[in-house]
Amino acid sequence: MSNITTTPEQQAKYYVLCDLEEAVKRLIQHHESKRTLWFSSDILPSDEGSPNDMVIAELRDRARGIPDCIRVALALNILTEEGLPHFHRLIADNLGSRTHWSQWNNLWTAEEDRHGNILRDYARDSRLLNFRVLERLQFNYLRAGFNPDWGGDPYKIFVYTSCQEKATQISHLKTGKIAASSEPLLDFITQRISQDEARHYAFYMSVFKEIIERDPNEALASAAAIMPSIDMPGISITNFNDYADVVRRSGIYGPRDYKRIVEQLIESWGIEIMMSLNELGRKAQDKIMAIPRRLERIAEYIETKSQEKSFRFEVVFGRVLEMA
Ligand SMILES: [Fe+2]
Ligand SMILES: [Fe+2]
Repeated sequence: MSNITTTPEQQAKYYVLCDLEEAVKRLIQHHESKRTLWFSSDILPSDEGSPNDMVIAELRDRARGIPDCIRVALALNILTEEGLPHFHRLIADNLGSRTHWSQWNNLWTAEEDRHGNILRDYARDSRLLNFRVLERLQFNYLRAGFNPDWGGDPYKIFVYTSCQEKATQISHLKTGKIAASSEPLLDFITQRISQDEARHYAFYMSVFKEIIERDPNEALASAAAIMPSIDMPGISITNFNDYADVVRRSGIYGPRDYKRIVEQLIESWGIEIMMSLNELGRKAQDKIMAIPRRLERIAEYIETKSQEKSFRFEVVFGRVLEMA
C-alpha cells in the first residue's frame, strides 16, 4: 500500500486501512452531499471590465481599516494553505497513491486548493500585504519541506489531520470575525473556508473513529503520540514563532483552543469510556486523558509570563505592531 518499507506492525495497520474502503466511500459520499462548491471567482471579481474597478476600489477602501494583527494572521493563513503540496504528498506517501484513499486525497486537495486561491486573491485585490515578501516566504516554505516524524505509522495521519482541520477552522473563522466590523467580505470568505474545514474535520475524525473500533489499542497508542502537541504545518515558515505569537495575542488561536480541540476529540472518540484495552491501550488512554490538564498549565504559564511585545513583519510593510 505504501511505497515505504514497512514493519509487520505497520503492515497490520495497512490491512485495517484497506478494510475501511466501504466506510471511506460512504464518508466521501456523505461529505460531498453536504458540500456547496464555491470558487474564488464566485465571490471576488475576476475580469478586468470597468464595473469591477469600482468593486475593487471599494474593497481597498474597506480593507484599509483591517488591523495589522489581522494582516499577520491572514499572511500566516495564506502560507499555511499554500503549503498544500506538503500535505498531498504526506497523505499519498502514508496511504498509497493507487488506493481508495487517493480518491479522498485528490478530492480533499482540490477543495483545499480553493482556500489558498481565495485568500491570495483577496489579499492581492485589497493590497493588504506586501506581495513580493509573501511570495518569497511561500517559495521558501515550500522548498523547506514539511516532514513530521510519524515513523511510518499511517494511523497518525488521521489524528494529526483531525487536530489540524479543527485548528484551521478556528483560525479562519476568528480572523474574519475580528475583521468583520471594517470588512464584512473577509468575514464572509473566512466563514466559507471555515465551513469546509469543519467538513474535513468531520471526515478525518470519523475515519479515526472507525480505526478505533477495529484496532483500539494501536489506535490509542498512535493518538497518544500525536495529541500532546502537534507540529503546526507552517512550522518551517520564516519567523513562524512570531506569527504564532501575534495570532495568540490577537485571540485568534492559542493553547486554550488546542486544549478544546483535544477535549472534543477525546469525547468524540469515546476515549475516556473505552474498556477492555490491553496494557498498551490503557497506558495510551491514561496519557491522552492527562493532556488537557497539561495544556491548561501551559496556557496559564504563557499567559502569566506574557508581556507587552513589539513585532515587525516585512509582509505587513515592515510596520511595528505593539501587542499586549
Ligand atoms: Fe484549508
Ligand atoms: Fe481542510
